[in-house]
Amino acid sequence: MEPIKVGLLGFGTVGSGTFTVLRRNQEEIKRRAGRGIEISRIAVRTPSKVKGAEGIGITTDFNAVVDDPSIDIVAEMIGGTGVARDLVLRAIANGKHIVTANKALLAVHGSEIFEAASKKGVMVAFEAAVAGGIPIIKALREGLTANRIEYIAGIINGTTNYILSEMRDRGLDFATALKAAQDLGYAEADPTFDIEGVDAAHKVTLMSAIAFGVPVQFDRAYVEGISKLDAIDIRYAENLGYRIKLLGIARRTEKGIELRTHPTLIPEKRLLANVEGAMNAVVVHGDAVGTTLYYGKGAGAEPTASAVVADLVDVTRLHTADPEHRVPHLAFQHDSLANTPILPIEEVTSSYYLRLRVADVTGVLANITRILADKAISIDALLQKESEHVDGEDKGETDIILITHETVEKEINAAITQIEALSTVVSKVTKLRMEGLK
Ligand code: HSE
Repeated sequence: MEPIKVGLLGFGTVGSGTFTVLRRNQEEIKRRAGRGIEISRIAVRTPSKVKGAEGIGITTDFNAVVDDPSIDIVAEMIGGTGVARDLVLRAIANGKHIVTANKALLAVHGSEIFEAASKKGVMVAFEAAVAGGIPIIKALREGLTANRIEYIAGIINGTTNYILSEMRDRGLDFATALKAAQDLGYAEADPTFDIEGVDAAHKVTLMSAIAFGVPVQFDRAYVEGISKLDAIDIRYAENLGYRIKLLGIARRTEKGIELRTHPTLIPEKRLLANVEGAMNAVVVHGDAVGTTLYYGKGAGAEPTASAVVADLVDVTRLHTADPEHRVPHLAFQHDSLANTPILPIEEVTSSYYLRLRVADVTGVLANITRILADKAISIDALLQKESEHVDGEDKGETDIILITHETVEKEINAAITQIEALSTVVSKVTKLRMEGLK
């Protein structure tokens, strides 16, 4: 049988990695897919960057590939939400299947793209969009399909995990650790997406849709990154037996779905707390299976290509099947998505780490704990540092760190407003969310 024909859009880290893996493992892949998979055309802005692709049609005209009647699958490896969106929609309109690693595109325009693909009866495969080489989309969509998924919590951005690990382990400052992550090729072209939590939020948004059978709703996700995280909180958290990780969290609650990305304290005993460097890991809790953990490389040329090629194989196996009998894009049938609300962050339930700078005077602690008690927020742990000395002189100020039991975010915010109004509290309160992950 003739090989299935793939048109590759983009030849950066992921595009070139896909080309290499497909070529190196072509015999095994053919035995698995039942037919060869051939990249027959590559569209790239700078053709001189394409090495080792002799005999393959290389063009700078991306539309020419998307419109080419001989192409069965378009592998979109450009990234971004502009040109990539136009090309993907055009390819779908031309009846091509799509394989993409583009989490931003699907998190923001997923509903439109999946709708267009369903109407046209083509597949949109995106394993590489979440946690690189970890087959988490496959696990959620197929392996765990018997379960009612209760929650997902993931370290799904290697750049920030690398930065946090280096800051904690080696005492590096934020900028040095970010530069190292960029040099290693982990960071997005614009590192803002990494450090401000946007990339992780894109990925958890995609997972939430598959886990709970809701539309992709990035505009409802709460997003907070690590750029404002103070090194002192990494140290205090460690003193208390916690590590700080940037977590993407999607949780089913009685009120709706929590969809949030933020720095999070995790007990150091949890496996997730010990995921270091640029590695990714995702915990999924299902009602039948219990807790499962997926770990691996979330970025880089070949780990990401591993997921892209797996999708190419899936599409090759299924492209002749009746569209009704394929695995649905978002795990649930297209016409069976629920309108479960995504909760605003004020309605989220969490325990909290609070750091306060206070005047070291009698009664300061009592005033703070009274405010919390009035709101029925109970304290789980408390750490008071010795009064700070500068050049041998007692400054008369100290840090208090409180860990609360679970409460609704709007309650802790109201308590913080009252605490900050106390004359003995001399700076803004630092608030971080915590996850027990039991
Ligand atoms: N910038 C991403 C990361 C790459 O650091 O994990 C993979 O999406």
